[in-house]
Amino acid sequence: MLDAPELGDREYDRLYDELVAIEAEHPDWVDPASPTRRVPGAVREGLRPVPHGRPMLSLEKATTEDGVRDFDRRVRELLPAGTAPEYVVEPKIDGVSVELTYRDGRLELASTRGGGEVGEDVTENLRTIRMVPLLIDHPGELVLRGEVYIHTAALAAVNEAKRAAGEPEFANPRNAAAGSLRLLDPRQTAERPLRLAVWEVLEGTARPPTHSAALEWLDRFRIPRQRRLHRCATIDEAWARLAETAEARRDLPYEIDGAVVKVDDYGLRERLGRTARAPRWAVAYKFAAERATTRLLDIRVQVGRTGVLTPVATLEPVRLAGTVVSQASLHNEDLIREKDVRVGDRVVVEKAGDIIPQVVEALHGERAGDPPRWRMPRRCPACGAEAVRLEGEAARRCTNPACPAQRRAAILHFSSRPAMDIDHLGPAVVDQLVEKGWVREPADLYALRAQDVASLERMAERSAQNLIDAVQASRAGRPFDRLIHALGIPHVGATVARTIAGVYRDAPAMLSAAPADVAARLGEEHAIGPKIAEAVRAYLAAPDTRAVLQHLVDAGVSTVPVEAPAAAAGGPLAGRAFCVTGTLALPREQVHALLRRAGAEVHETIKKTTTDLVAGEKVGKSKLERAAKQGVRVLSEAELWALVPKE
Ligand code: IVH
Repeated sequence: MLDAPELGDREYDRLYDELVAIEAEHPDWVDPASPTRRVPGAVREGLRPVPHGRPMLSLEKATTEDGVRDFDRRVRELLPAGTAPEYVVEPKIDGVSVELTYRDGRLELASTRGGGEVGEDVTENLRTIRMVPLLIDHPGELVLRGEVYIHTAALAAVNEAKRAAGEPEFANPRNAAAGSLRLLDPRQTAERPLRLAVWEVLEGTARPPTHSAALEWLDRFRIPRQRRLHRCATIDEAWARLAETAEARRDLPYEIDGAVVKVDDYGLRERLGRTARAPRWAVAYKFAAERATTRLLDIRVQVGRTGVLTPVATLEPVRLAGTVVSQASLHNEDLIREKDVRVGDRVVVEKAGDIIPQVVEALHGERAGDPPRWRMPRRCPACGAEAVRLEGEAARRCTNPACPAQRRAAILHFSSRPAMDIDHLGPAVVDQLVEKGWVREPADLYALRAQDVASLERMAERSAQNLIDAVQASRAGRPFDRLIHALGIPHVGATVARTIAGVYRDAPAMLSAAPADVAARLGEEHAIGPKIAEAVRAYLAAPDTRAVLQHLVDAGVSTVPVEAPAAAAGGPLAGRAFCVTGTLALPREQVHALLRRAGAEVHETIKKTTTDLVAGEKVGKSKLERAAKQGVRVLSEAELWALVPKE
């Protein structure tokens, strides 16, 4: 087994220390591929974007046997009559995909998938994974793709440490892998037990002609690869292997969410080609969501940042899809009534795509007697204020804007990773900060002092300083869209936040515009729907919420304007600036990436310098009028693809 190290950890450490000593004495001997370089330097500002030579596609999905057989039929229809393609079945690990390039034997670049066209440079972080060789005996170029992932047991240990530090835990192994790989400080990545399994060989000098042989060929370079590989002569055999893999799922040390069926022969793959989104030579068979049965011990009510009361099931702990589950969502009071779920029932829980498990049903046949029905409280469980249910809403809301539970949720959202990304601010810490009255709104975080924080329960001096440092690090330099997202304006998620940030430079600029004008601009110029535009207007108009943003500005929080990534110099579209509207065959982000690669600038809206408007389906009239008025060239989707081929 190549996964099995030849050296014990202790021996490795001894040799490693020796190497460090030698390199310290002879700095000019240091090889960039030395294992000591796995412990790299400083925190970076952001990850560098890297365009992929070939886009990283996704996979067609099948969820039934028929779906898998349809795939086989499609494949054979596209190949010359009588061709019997061999297949390979392999597990689909639930991690984060990366591309690795070795040039003349050195690991030169590692990047994430990103939107498929442009990923992020994670070379330094990937180098910290010990099982990845930095130096191999392979001349020329070797380009690989694979999955960075974490073992289920290792994730449990990481989460245990996070819990002890009062930090938010990773919801699943994929988040853990992605979060750890994309850390700006590679030293932190080095502390996470990440692994790599290569699942495709894109380029290689003397690469064998089939996928299965190419993966096996990687063994001579000691490159960690997907090892559970089954070659199948027919689709019947492939189906049997898929079923087997589904069975084996529980026994694997890592989580998989399905298995992939691939055509083995590279020549046949070439003939089959791809669609806009996925290769025609592979299909992902997704397993059904895992379910488990357990007992419902209690129903608690959680208060969200907008005051919504959500019933949450407390469960007898049960193993489900690699983690132990003791809580599950019950959505809302209507659902509990419809499904007739009562405390004490045996219930079925399911982990669908990811993150939060759900109660699917109560097993009424196993219910003893007639336990009372559950009722949603009429008062907020956190502050006692009246909780009302608005006309047409399934949710009941706490009416008290000063409710500590709402504050707590708002602070947690503010500091969350996609928002202001403040580390070390877990629920346990936030609870205490709110309880003590030190933090009522996000701006208060910036006034915290280390000595105060150190006086909190379970808070060591060093952790207190880490927290203060993390807060202060977010004071300047976060992109403006993150701040907007962090405010938690109803209906404003990361995407809408980005659009808003494209209109206003920063918070002072947004605050100095009249709220009604902000809403009008968002609606008219940026195709933001009336419900969202109204939510933004209301947020900026109401003194309470407006003050939250104003106080952040007063506390010295400053952001950087959001700018589109720079265009490639010298491409065929250099000097032109495109705005894309309406629905196109590819997701908007991907179209933008294609345009940038061709050297064009991309504008989110029609600006003075926009030269071309691409009008997809359902394009808004106002955009076309504006283009006509400004003399901007209007292109159809077909005309666009003639300029930038999508294949
Ligand atoms: S092959 C052109 N093989 O699944 C795409 N993908 O849904 C070829 N994945 O982004 C992908 N294990 O991150 C392939 N053995 C495997 C895989 C695998 C996990 C992931 C990968 C990809 C996603 C597609």
